[in-house]
Amino acid sequence: MNFDTYIDRNQYPTMKWSREFLAEHFGNEEAIPMSVADMDLKAPPAVIEQLQKRTAHGVFGYEYIPDSYFIALENWYKNRHGWHINRQHLETCPSILNAISILINQHSNINDGVILQTPVFFEFRMVIKSNNRKIVKNPLKLVEGKYHIDFDDLEAKAGDPNNKILILCNPHNPVGRVWSKTELEQITAICKRHNLFVIADEIHGDFAFPPHQYTPYLTVSADTMPNVATCISPAKTFNIAGMVDAITIIPHEAHRHQFHEFAHRYQINKTNVFSSIAIETAYKHGADWLDSLLVYLQGNINMIREHLQKNSINVSLIDPEGTFLVWLDFRKLGLEAKELEQFLAHDAKIAVSPGYWFGREGAGFARMTIGCPQKTVQRALDNLTNAVNDNR
Ligand SMILES: Cc1ncc(COP(=O)(O)O)c(C=O)c1O
Repeated sequence: MNFDTYIDRNQYPTMKWSREFLAEHFGNEEAIPMSVADMDLKAPPAVIEQLQKRTAHGVFGYEYIPDSYFIALENWYKNRHGWHINRQHLETCPSILNAISILINQHSNINDGVILQTPVFFEFRMVIKSNNRKIVKNPLKLVEGKYHIDFDDLEAKAGDPNNKILILCNPHNPVGRVWSKTELEQITAICKRHNLFVIADEIHGDFAFPPHQYTPYLTVSADTMPNVATCISPAKTFNIAGMVDAITIIPHEAHRHQFHEFAHRYQINKTNVFSSIAIETAYKHGADWLDSLLVYLQGNINMIREHLQKNSINVSLIDPEGTFLVWLDFRKLGLEAKELEQFLAHDAKIAVSPGYWFGREGAGFARMTIGCPQKTVQRALDNLTNAVNDNR
């Protein structure tokens, strides 16, 4: 597999790469695009081939999701993650955020608290706010370069009767933790004790670097508590975010029925012909491609680590255990959050997501998307190093 090829994404209106997006969010159209969490890499060849075949067929009428799709998905999770998904528990819907928004609506009321483990994927905040719920933080603790869950604080927040939901990001975007079985069990014990509903967002589940292993949250919680739903999707895994649906797994029958009714009422239970064929093909034939990608991503990460060590520019890497995102620590540069944002976009000319976007706890950090050719990462590192040296 060759992930080194540069692909011009501006042939299509790509968010991350468009001049308008770069101007609006970074004030610099020339900055290297490394913000949005998709990859500048082609999808697995089998997926491209099947989509070409499907396009050549020329008829794109209504379809249903075939049995073979669900079998491919079940086999993927069973073979790769030892997780036996019960087909009866699955619900499809257009996107993970869509599913999270529905679940928030169904398992809390207006003004209730939804707990987030900050710094965390910023769209969670938008979904909570747009549903008129309150964001309650259970900030992660950074200890000697590794983020941990503050379980005492979680216990306290979960114990507040105003708080109804925890959104768990497993593995965690942006800090790259792949939560261990023990950590997930601790979460379960707390949430069960306080009757909190857990929404586990596992969109990054396929990205764990050995020896770390992704533990699907339902494998540690489903037998113990009813109040849980997990959202999965092959969008990130195979870089097909622009076309796929998401899957929500809800073991508890009444909760699932409620979700199903909603999807039916708002008619968001349709699929599209490209999405279902892409998902089925990727889960059937994408394993080798993903294995190669994981090796390539670790190569990018090693390059970043070595570059930062060699050049002593006071920027450090929070070593990711998974995801295709790296969380960089700029605190030693001594810049305020907005100054750092300016420095990165204008001096270093890299469009990375400033840490404060992920919550106040992220100030002084930034998230860089590294699902791209090694050359792009190298260019970004060179830009960064030159900018730090010029500013000394
Ligand atoms: C943790 C996490 N959840 C959800 C999403 C978005 O998923 P979707 O496009 O299916 O809503 C992303 C995208 O970056 C993500 O990182």
